[in-house]
Amino acid sequence: MDFSLTDEHRMVQEMVRDYAQREIAPIIKEYDRKQEMAPEILPRMAELGLLGICLPLRYGGQGMDYIALGLVCEELEAVDSSMRVVMSVHVGLNCLGLFQWADEEQKEAFLIPQARGEKIACFGLSEPGAGSDVAAIQSTARRDKGNYVINGEKMWISLASKAHHVMWVARTNPDAPDPHDGLSAFLVELDRPGITRGDIHGKLGVRAGSTGWISFQDVRVPEKNRIGKEGEGFKIAMSALDNGRYTVAAGATGLIRACLDESVQYANQRQAFGRQIGKIQLIQAKIAHMVQSYDAARLLYLHAGWLKNLGKRNTRQTSLAKWFATDASFEAASQAIQIHGAYGYSDEYNVERYLRNARGAIIYEGTSEIHQLIQAGYALGLRGDAPLRKELPAYDRDKWQENCSE
Ligand code: CAA
Repeated sequence: MDFSLTDEHRMVQEMVRDYAQREIAPIIKEYDRKQEMAPEILPRMAELGLLGICLPLRYGGQGMDYIALGLVCEELEAVDSSMRVVMSVHVGLNCLGLFQWADEEQKEAFLIPQARGEKIACFGLSEPGAGSDVAAIQSTARRDKGNYVINGEKMWISLASKAHHVMWVARTNPDAPDPHDGLSAFLVELDRPGITRGDIHGKLGVRAGSTGWISFQDVRVPEKNRIGKEGEGFKIAMSALDNGRYTVAAGATGLIRACLDESVQYANQRQAFGRQIGKIQLIQAKIAHMVQSYDAARLLYLHAGWLKNLGKRNTRQTSLAKWFATDASFEAASQAIQIHGAYGYSDEYNVERYLRNARGAIIYEGTSEIHQLIQAGYALGLRGDAPLRKELPAYDRDKWQENCSE
């Protein structure tokens, strides 16, 4: 077993740390207060190659592996969750979903511009009445002269108002005996007639991120925009979530690290009872728990990333990493506030923002309750990994760094 990072991993880690600390940290409080996404974030992430970091060069990416994707997410969320959410939705859920399930023509048309960051992508799964229960999706897509006509509403969609493309899951067969088999996935350009969308304000956290809703009213979409076969929508969405959840796990690990670093710094300088508070055992216990959470969360996501590199099914390990890291990051942020005392309760310090940001990740991309069901299901033998028609794309450095356009 080799736990070391490659030179390439360390290089990307340093580059993203430097970017997040130098360019985002100074402006993040202002945008969090304004409840807006800083306009420079998406173009700059594209320029740095982050929006296609773990995709082959021939599909517009940077040819790096899944570990690099995790490291990027960890570094981004060590500053703010809003940038990591971009990675989760654009790269994890959409680009990697296309990479696994789209045909070559679709990759050419949609994946390449997305991986280059020329087009921004989001993921349309959750609906006003269907979140955890994906099979209950109400949106419909019916065939009509070589097109589909899509109707429905999607809610809690990150990047809804910023994206050019959405991966939209709709019901194509309302009569399927198993409702899971009645769903299909589509890659839809968001400038098509019949589409309206908007932002949701008033969220507890990720306020410097973009979250919204999208409505489709008789939107005509060519058949060639359907990803995979009719009826494969549930499996496409679930395998995309295996990647999205990985990015959430890695990001939450970065949030724990930020809580730890800032708590250590504060505990080393704040005096009480005639000494630094870091010398008080009750404070040390909180710091020790953050260290424990950080190391465990990191090992869990790196293990899932290693399985991804090998092209092995990782649904269980990714779910475990996401569940553990998100719960632990909320606890770490709460304890970081406790260490900071009243200062931690105000936005003079970052830790109150970390707490607000950490809360959402216990809900999105599978609530902690859903992850408990998944884990118990595997342990009890109630759940297994049915073979997929499209294999998971194993990382092959030579192939991924081969540039066919040269
Ligand atoms: N990959 C591939 N196939 C999968 C899979 C996966 N990860 N998970 C399940 N499947 C397959 C199963 O093998 C099964 O196939 P067969 O019928 O061939 O055996 C089929 O799909 C049905 O699976 P389940 O029986 O497990 O389905 P279920 O209805 O019991 O649901 C669930 C399982 C775990 C509850 C699932 O619905 C789930 O994960 N829900 C949470 C959804 C979620 O995370 N939503 C987040 C929305 S996205 C978001 O938040 C992004 C944003 O913009 C912020």
